[in-house]
Amino acid sequence: MQVVRDPKTFREACEAARARGARVGLVPTMGALHEGHLSLVDRAKHEGATFVALTIFVNPLQFAAHEDLGRYPRTLEADLEACRSRGVDLVFAPEDGSMYPPGFQTEVAVGEITKRWEGVHRPSHFAGVTTVVCKLFALTGPSVAVFGRKDYQQWRVIERMTLDLDLPIDVVGHPIVREEDGLALSSRNRYLSPEERTRALGIARGLHAANEAWRAGMRDADALRAIVRGPVESAFDSIDYVAVASPRTLEPLEGSATEAVILVAAHVGRTRLIDNLELA
Ligand code: PAF
Repeated sequence: MQVVRDPKTFREACEAARARGARVGLVPTMGALHEGHLSLVDRAKHEGATFVALTIFVNPLQFAAHEDLGRYPRTLEADLEACRSRGVDLVFAPEDGSMYPPGFQTEVAVGEITKRWEGVHRPSHFAGVTTVVCKLFALTGPSVAVFGRKDYQQWRVIERMTLDLDLPIDVVGHPIVREEDGLALSSRNRYLSPEERTRALGIARGLHAANEAWRAGMRDADALRAIVRGPVESAFDSIDYVAVASPRTLEPLEGSATEAVILVAAHVGRTRLIDNLELA
């Protein structure tokens, strides 16, 4: 496995792989890798990638001043070991500053779909994400790029950007990986105290209850929202949103739904968690 730190060397390594006839798969991450990320590597291979590039970059552009950029976990050595044992071919872990050199002033911003839910609570977040992902796409030239569906809105925003900009890349959203008790894997779970971790299960409980109700025939968006909100409200310190939305556009649903995604963001202690469930 090759590890590179500067964008030019990364671009050249990807070009060389393509020149050898490889189908390049990209897995963008911010590191602190867990099984959720590593399952994206497997998925890239499953989608036909014969050369998998994984990027590790805690992208400052997608954090607001009051957010957790400074305390975001950085575990490069363990991440590289995990990549090696999962069969990643190339890791790009850019040096601070090399992605946004002095004079950098370009932003890639997607419209309507970024304005809701996460966009309300983290107004500059998605422009930071789409700017860095666009740069990573340009450097890598992947045939396929895999994102976790835990960041459901992010996946849909990147799909939209790729479509709108005619980028020749298959954007794949890979299902959430959960602990046995239902907690969605997240790099931020390591912030949780044992007591907070127990409370964090409130989201999985709410989503599970909504899934059961859906399977029993419940289709009313308000009722589904209320089923999720109950356990989240009693376990979490505050809720940013519990939304029942159209899976593709993320517009809020009212009345009877034929398909839906339930999106949740809530705070336990100092940690903000997001999770979701698709119903179809
Ligand atoms: O999902 C993430 O880890 C990040 O938002 C991404 C896609 C790597 C961009 O920084």
